[in-house]
Amino acid sequence: MNGTGRFPRTRMRRLRGAAWSRNLVAENTLSVTDLIWPVFVVDGKGCCQDVPSMPGVERLSIDRLVDAAGEASALGVKALAVFPCVDPALKTPDGREAANPDNLMCRTIRALKTAHPDVGLFCDVALDPYNSDGHDGIVRDGVIVNDETVDMLVRQSLVQAEAGADVIAPSDMMDGRIGIIRDALEAAGHDIVQIMSYGPKYASAFYGPFRDALGSDGALKGDKKTYQMDPANSDEALREVAMDLEEGADSIMVKPGLPYLDIVQRVQETFAVPTLVYQVSGEYAMIKAAAANGWLDNDKALLESLLAFKRAGACAIFTYAAVEVARLLNGPGQR
Ligand code: PBG
Repeated sequence: MNGTGRFPRTRMRRLRGAAWSRNLVAENTLSVTDLIWPVFVVDGKGCCQDVPSMPGVERLSIDRLVDAAGEASALGVKALAVFPCVDPALKTPDGREAANPDNLMCRTIRALKTAHPDVGLFCDVALDPYNSDGHDGIVRDGVIVNDETVDMLVRQSLVQAEAGADVIAPSDMMDGRIGIIRDALEAAGHDIVQIMSYGPKYASAFYGPFRDALGSDGALKGDKKTYQMDPANSDEALREVAMDLEEGADSIMVKPGLPYLDIVQRVQETFAVPTLVYQVSGEYAMIKAAAANGWLDNDKALLESLLAFKRAGACAIFTYAAVEVARLLNGPGQR
């Protein structure tokens, strides 16, 4: 009847007309098994401190963290990323507490693996929780020294692997550390411990609330631009990733997340390796602050931002909202 071309034959809206249809044609989905929950641990017992710039995030003592991990696991969140808030008295210029086999991090790993052996643990490797200068590496005459830092990172990796870490996650951005850590893990018999490299990790303003949470912000002298990547660059991210894979990394983390979706996509398309992404503290804080003001719908903004990571090609996501989002995903349908 319509020989006049008055009606569109292709109507994109047909497929969008009903929830059942939208669900059938959805190209990407977010599921609870995509989520990794970053957590902050402090010394003490029965302890739980709010992090003011990250509403809903708490620093927990080991006993409380073990309980929280059990609740997360029951909701289907089966992986945690552990960050220790270290007593300032233990911080030194060389960050040697990082290599103490009985440090807060190692005690936490042992407690979590004992209570929840089926929950995977991503364990950060970098000196910032232990370094009195607040840097990820050792500072000498104002310079973050690479190779000496790597020696300490190797020791840190080994004590964490020994304590039961499933994934060693170097976030320090020193050159050459992946290969050297890999060799050390192999030599020590930790051949199945994974390495997730923060290869493309940018010198970002979005880490601010994390540094509050860790208490490393006050300590930080200067910035991290001599080792973290320049936000202007993206070819350089591919060089970082190529080297890390060559050196034995099993997976790659892109960080921050939302402002760097192009990097997630380029890394995944170029290398076709497991590419994870970190919705960092500042991204989380932005959503929470806007939602608290009634300017954004918290649940919708969280779900949409996480789904965007999947669309860009990420296989898994670090998010402080993991438990909250698991509850949403386990609840009635969102689409
Ligand atoms: C440092 C580290 C940082 C984050 C994770 N590991 C901060 C930094 O590089 O200063 C930030 C994570 C976040 O902002 O959520 N090793």
